[in-house]
Amino acid sequence: MNYAKNILETIGHTPLVQLNALAKDIDALVLAKVESFNPGNSIKDRMAVKMIEDAESKGLLNPGGTIIEGTSGNTGMGLALGAIVKGYRLVCVINDKQSKEKIDILRAVGAEVVVCPTNVEPGDPRSYYSVSKRLADEIPNSWYVNQYDNLSNAAAHYEQTGPEIWDQTDGRITHFVVGVGTGGTISGVGKYLKEKNPKIKIWGIDTYGSVFKKYHETGVFDENEIYPYITEGIGEDILPKNVDFDVIDGFTKVTDKDAAIYTRKLTREEGIFAGNSAGAAVKGLIQLKEHFKKEDVVVVLFHDHGSRYVAKMFNDDWMRDRGFLGSEIKTAADLVKIHEKSSLITAKTEELVMHAIERMKKYDISQLPITDREGYVGSIDESDLFKAWMEDKDIVKRPIKDYMQAPYPVVDKSTSIEKIAKLINKKNKAVLIDLGKGMYRIITKHDIISAL
Ligand SMILES: Cc1ncc(COP(=O)(O)O)c(C=O)c1O
Repeated sequence: MNYAKNILETIGHTPLVQLNALAKDIDALVLAKVESFNPGNSIKDRMAVKMIEDAESKGLLNPGGTIIEGTSGNTGMGLALGAIVKGYRLVCVINDKQSKEKIDILRAVGAEVVVCPTNVEPGDPRSYYSVSKRLADEIPNSWYVNQYDNLSNAAAHYEQTGPEIWDQTDGRITHFVVGVGTGGTISGVGKYLKEKNPKIKIWGIDTYGSVFKKYHETGVFDENEIYPYITEGIGEDILPKNVDFDVIDGFTKVTDKDAAIYTRKLTREEGIFAGNSAGAAVKGLIQLKEHFKKEDVVVVLFHDHGSRYVAKMFNDDWMRDRGFLGSEIKTAADLVKIHEKSSLITAKTEELVMHAIERMKKYDISQLPITDREGYVGSIDESDLFKAWMEDKDIVKRPIKDYMQAPYPVVDKSTSIEKIAKLINKKNKAVLIDLGKGMYRIITKHDIISAL
């Protein structure tokens, strides 16, 4: 009989799959190490179990103990599998940027989940770094994993992932391309491969909003490089001990939009349903294509499974709301689709300026079309009102018709974005789109910019 004694024994030995459509412009053999085949659907199963076993052998984790970790989900899943099989309690501290599916999945496998705000400094007591550490102090017989600085993380990839890639490519790998978060994967695999063949190049994929690339190139930890981003799993605002910059030859940064688009492409063009950092890795690989030659064997690693992102990168509304489907926006109809849910807010000529101001405040808008019995006869916007108020502090009590400007131009749904953009200027703050049957939508400069 051929069976595993428990689920942990099924971790690893993931397939290496050739990329075809997405690698068509790359003059090398491109192979993907697809880590979603692990039982927890991500590479993190490997390091999670290694960290638990190392903690057990060091006496840091004892029977009946509690495992605590600040995790973006995948490590939590790996720890959960380990906790179930080995009989520990697990508390996962997660930031609110992570997908709802990841949180739900962690709860499904028995973890207790604490959600913390993303946009606070790592040292802030609300950050998920600080909350995890505090819980570890408070809960008796607990062990704080700290995947960032726990070197068992990189060791798992040195012992497992690196040798698997070396064996699967028969030692012919020339380049390894991978997203970098805690740094465990790139450092462990990179160290192993460089020991086997120092000529192998190790490339990290970073995000805009993360410190890695600049730090690697200049040695400067530049806080200006840190800002919120959408891509999940990679990039950091700290330098984890698991990132061994010495084994990394270079980084390339991938935008949130490109990472999201390539996550979808990977599924639709290769049939590989992988997560967001896999999309970033593929786009990064394409950005690096001039580094590869025909006889090269390039291995790119996909960390996790696409099912965790169905409400995000795989959801059209989510993509459109962020302007990530921007290239499809050609006409007024496309723009209207993005703002489908917002209805047209207007004011009447006989209403008072204070009513227009109230409406602008309520709906957080800067301009209004003005109607009377004949239809759209004027417009009013906050800069006109501000100018008028400078001259007469009583304008709020006067009728709108005394202050309104010319009506906004009206165009039909098929009008191109270029034409609409030309109609919007200092005098004309917006354009009305005629949707037929007496329905109209307003398009402003802000709507066009946010759809870019
Ligand atoms: C989806 C995903 N991609 C990439 C990474 C980065 O891997 P590593 O932490 O080994 O650098 C992570 C780790 O958090 C991840 O969860």
